[in-house]
Amino acid sequence: MSGCECKPNAKRERDSAKPKAKGAAIKNMRWTMLIEAINIRKSYRDRRGETVSVLKDLSLQIARGEFVSLSGPSGCGKSTLLNVLGCLDHPDAGAYQFDGNDVLGWPERQRADLRNRRIGFIFQGFHLLPFLTVEGNIKLPHLYSRSPRSDSTNVEELLREVDLAGMARRYPGELSGGQQQRVAIARALALKADLILADEPTGNLDGDSAQSILDVFGRLVGQGKTVLLVTHDPAVARRASRHIRLEEGRIASETTPAKGATV
Ligand SMILES: Nc1ncnc2c1ncn2[C@@H]1O[C@H](COP(=O)(O)OP(=O)(O)OP(=O)(O)O)[C@@H](O)[C@H]1O
Ligand SMILES: [Mg+2]
Repeated sequence: MSGCECKPNAKRERDSAKPKAKGAAIKNMRWTMLIEAINIRKSYRDRRGETVSVLKDLSLQIARGEFVSLSGPSGCGKSTLLNVLGCLDHPDAGAYQFDGNDVLGWPERQRADLRNRRIGFIFQGFHLLPFLTVEGNIKLPHLYSRSPRSDSTNVEELLREVDLAGMARRYPGELSGGQQQRVAIARALALKADLILADEPTGNLDGDSAQSILDVFGRLVGQGKTVLLVTHDPAVARRASRHIRLEEGRIASETTPAKGATV
């Protein structure tokens, strides 16, 4: 599965490739791609009013349950791509389907709802609120989405999953960097998101902390979640089932551990 295989008419080809099943069989059929982005362009205006092109006709498919890592030089567009795929930012051009839904055509409220229910973000900084306890931080996204699940979130169970049992009443300032990062992961897990977008979750962590965070991601993929993880660390990238390298807003290469370079 290569990013280069995506074409503007990929959806048409995909639809025509679907078996002509009938009735309930059609209803139960699910396309395996969770993410299908085609010819995405994104630019920003700098302070002088000049346009800086960041994503340049970038196409990417990610199947449900894949563990994909993303690397590339600083400024090549990794975080921008995550923001677009996570419906935090709107591309200037291109098509984007999340789980078969044409989300770019949706009103912002509907996109926000999808984001709150199905996409877990782990940001480059941890983005924990310092005046809330670990428990408060984990439940926060539910408050934004006014989800009734907020009260039923089993914080202790989530904390056990990220090896932080018994720390619900602590404040972020009382935790190490690795522990704060694991709270951010637990917060993403609390949403029961299908897609986890993680922007350098192991950056600035020592080897052991990074390893335990990677173990958590490994378990998530084992549970059927889809993970897209930005990393500069080749050892981290090797844990993924597919590695994508971005350069100047384009996919420069893709590797799968079994096959070697494919682009
Ligand atoms: N809101 C913005 N306004 C203007 N320019 C922006 C904005 N966000 C990002 N950029 C520019 O877009 C380019 C890509 O930024 P992005 O944050 O996606 O890079 P990155 O690959 O994540 O880099 P890093 O590895 O340093 O995190 C950079 O040149 C950056 O300055
Ligand atoms: Mg970044």
